This record gives sequence, structure tokens and C-alpha cells, in this order.
Amino acid sequence: MIKNILQFSHQLLADAVQVGETVIDATCGNGNDTIFLSNLVGDSGTVLAFDIQKQAIDSTKRRLIDEARQNVKLIHDGHERVTTYLLKEQKHGIAGAIFNLGYLPRSDKTIITKSESTLQAIQQILDYLKTNGVVVIVIYYGHEGGLEEKENVITFVKQLDQSAYHVLRYEFINQKNNPPFVVAIQKRKEKLNK
Ligand SMILES: C[S@@+](CC[C@H](N)C(=O)[O-])C[C@H]1O[C@@H](n2cnc3c(N)ncnc32)[C@H](O)[C@@H]1O
Repeated sequence: MIKNILQFSHQLLADAVQVGETVIDATCGNGNDTIFLSNLVGDSGTVLAFDIQKQAIDSTKRRLIDEARQNVKLIHDGHERVTTYLLKEQKHGIAGAIFNLGYLPRSDKTIITKSESTLQAIQQILDYLKTNGVVVIVIYYGHEGGLEEKENVITFVKQLDQSAYHVLRYEFINQKNNPPFVVAIQKRKEKLNK
């Protein structure tokens, strides 16, 4: 079966991430991806989960309590400050990260991710990504301001050096109403100079 956007984004992370590793949910919202990542890395791993909205942090906190997950550090701050929150040992290699761009469902539609901070966060995470680690970006762009962010993210990822990163786009091209699509970046093994 062809995987839907959620299934595909989670499959990419499941293939790249091992138990015990550190991963990032850059836009935790209601915590769906946070819970997924928490189970993926297990009790010995760590999830750093960011959101600028207190409502999102509270909502994710409730989910974590309900599901008795204790390996998540919830951070009420912008993902563009991710480097500030990485411990020295975590800078040795982030295994995976996910972004869901757009606004929090059933909430204030004017609080959206914005390309400047999104790109800053992606770049910082790429700097600390382990070899074969993956950054998954689920791009929702039907809302006001969404198209600009989509274009800027695509422009940024297209110029990433192909010898350093695999970059893909996964989308359903016969769906109406601006369906979300996935952009994924995987860090390649560094080639030794001959
Ligand atoms: C599409 S929603 C995320 C949905 C979430 N993955 C879920 O499972 O419910 C996007 C979220 O990004 C948050 N956001 C916007 N700008 C942000 C920033 N600079 N840093 C962190 N989160 C941000 C919004 O508050 C919103 O909750």
C-alpha cells in the first residue's frame, strides 16, 4: 500500500533512529509526533519537543502524562533556538527531527511557523545530525503565509550539496486543496579526501 503522509514521515524516522538516541520534535503541537518519537527512542533515549504556544506545550504534557512517557524534554521556546538546548553529548549526533509546518489544528490560525525561523532551525539541526540521520518536514501550506514558507523551504533544501545530503519530496499529486507533502533530508556519509 502507498503510505499516507503521516505513515511515510514516521517510517523515515523509524528507519533512521535507534533506541537510546536523541531526536527533536520541532513543532510539538498536540503531541502526536512527540509520542511517536518518545516510543521510538525508548526510555534510554531523549526527545526535545519545542513549541512557542503554551497551549501546545500543555496539550503535549497531558498526552505524555496519560501515556506515562518520561523521556521528553518539553521546551516552550522557538525551534530557531534549538542549539541553546543541546547538551554537549547531544551535539555528537541528533538521529532525527520532524517539523509540521503551519498552525495548530483547532487553534489560532494566525500563529504559524515562519520561513526565517524554520530555516534557521533546519540548518542548526543539520549541523548536529548524525550520519544517516534524517530531518522530516511536513509542509502544510494552504493557510495565509503558507505558500511563502513552502517556497522558501524548497529553495533552501534544493541547494543542499548532493554529496552531503539526500533530499526528497513525497507528495500526492492528484489531491485537491493544497494537501501537505513531505520533504526529507538525510545526511550522507562524509567521503574521505583521496
Ligand atoms: C502544524 S502544528 C504542529 C502539529 C503537531 N505536530 C501535532 O501533532 O499536533 C505547528 C506548530 O508549530 C508551532 N510553532 C510555530 N512557530 C514555531 C517556532 N518558531 N518554534 C516552535 N514551534 C513553533 C505552532 O505553535 C504550532 O503548534
